[in-house]
Amino acid sequence: MLSDLAPQPADALLALIKLHRDDPRADKIDLGVGVYRTGQGDTPVFSAIKAAEARLVETQDSKAYLGPEGDMGFVRGLMPYIFGADDPTRGGRIDGMQAPGGTGAVRLAVALAKKAGVGRVWMGTPSWPNHAQIYADLDIEMKPFAHATKNGRADMDALRVAVGLAERGDAMLLHGCCHNPTGIDYAPAEWDEIAALVADKGLLPLLDLAYQGLGEGMEADAFGVRRVLDAVPEAIVAYSCDKNFGLYRDRVGAAYVMVDDAALLPAVMSNGYALARANWSMPPDHGAAAVRIVLEDADLTAQWLDELGTMRARMAKVRARLAEAGRIGAIDMAALGSQHGLFSMLPLSGEQIAALRADYGIYMAGSGRINIAGLTTGNIDAFIAALRAVAG
Ligand code: LMR
Repeated sequence: MLSDLAPQPADALLALIKLHRDDPRADKIDLGVGVYRTGQGDTPVFSAIKAAEARLVETQDSKAYLGPEGDMGFVRGLMPYIFGADDPTRGGRIDGMQAPGGTGAVRLAVALAKKAGVGRVWMGTPSWPNHAQIYADLDIEMKPFAHATKNGRADMDALRVAVGLAERGDAMLLHGCCHNPTGIDYAPAEWDEIAALVADKGLLPLLDLAYQGLGEGMEADAFGVRRVLDAVPEAIVAYSCDKNFGLYRDRVGAAYVMVDDAALLPAVMSNGYALARANWSMPPDHGAAAVRIVLEDADLTAQWLDELGTMRARMAKVRARLAEAGRIGAIDMAALGSQHGLFSMLPLSGEQIAALRADYGIYMAGSGRINIAGLTTGNIDAFIAALRAVAG
């Protein structure tokens, strides 16, 4: 039976990691998978996390199982940042559980939605390719609509049409901030409208918040999620700490559920625990425990927020420099200046992307997505020059 299985292509995005690693050119540029890099091109462990890990090693006296919900100190410690410090549980209507990274959280969110009867998920495209892979794997139908217009704005008309076509009981996946791959986020007034539309239509929002703090700040980046939660009775939030705590390979995430009636929350969460048990049983502990230690300690929290601020400021600088490049052929580089997060998309053809890789050692996703943080003062001019040569 196993020998009948057709070979599957490697995940295109993850394959870039290896392609770039194997390229011997010293001046190669990695704009592929979404990891933050410093101005020196490194992805160091946050010093707040290093300190928390040292404390964890020192004080942890057991590695016995915690249960499918994971480290609830971690899960609850994040809630004021996501849902607001005033009433993070919204009157006891929100609870969460740990998940293996953002992917685990999205998978849990979609599986829980399916278990609750959702058959279709509406989603602006392009999106993170793994969203569609997760829907396919869970056998849930995806209904795509355009996320962005040609001139680089959120395509609200397409979203309005999608909501018009959707049926009560469908879900809609929304990126909370730092849209992956376009960098094009909704403005506050657009979130107001989306929240009202989704609530009126009775759609279940699946909010994917994987980059909180990498856009405009921890509070500003939660605006959309909070606005939607204000408007609807129920929602699921998939959260990732992979980027904003730099814990990528440790797989640190959480899934949160908001219900209409607090009394029903334990029953809903019990379905989440059952799904976790059948998928991964329990999430990996180490990274989440380190985040909990950071969040429990005011000094470490301040240090973490400071490090996050440094990352944000560096990406803003890179975006400003890219925006100065103006127009390069069909590419309006100025638009990159107002986009958010690690990613932006360049309207490049497959041939142009291949030429950038073959002739200049520049690695980017096949969609034309670039990781802004892969650019440094040392390589940004070479990148712009290569773009001019290939696409200008
Ligand atoms: C990305 O989009 O590059 C990241 O979210 C990494 C991943 O898991 O795909």
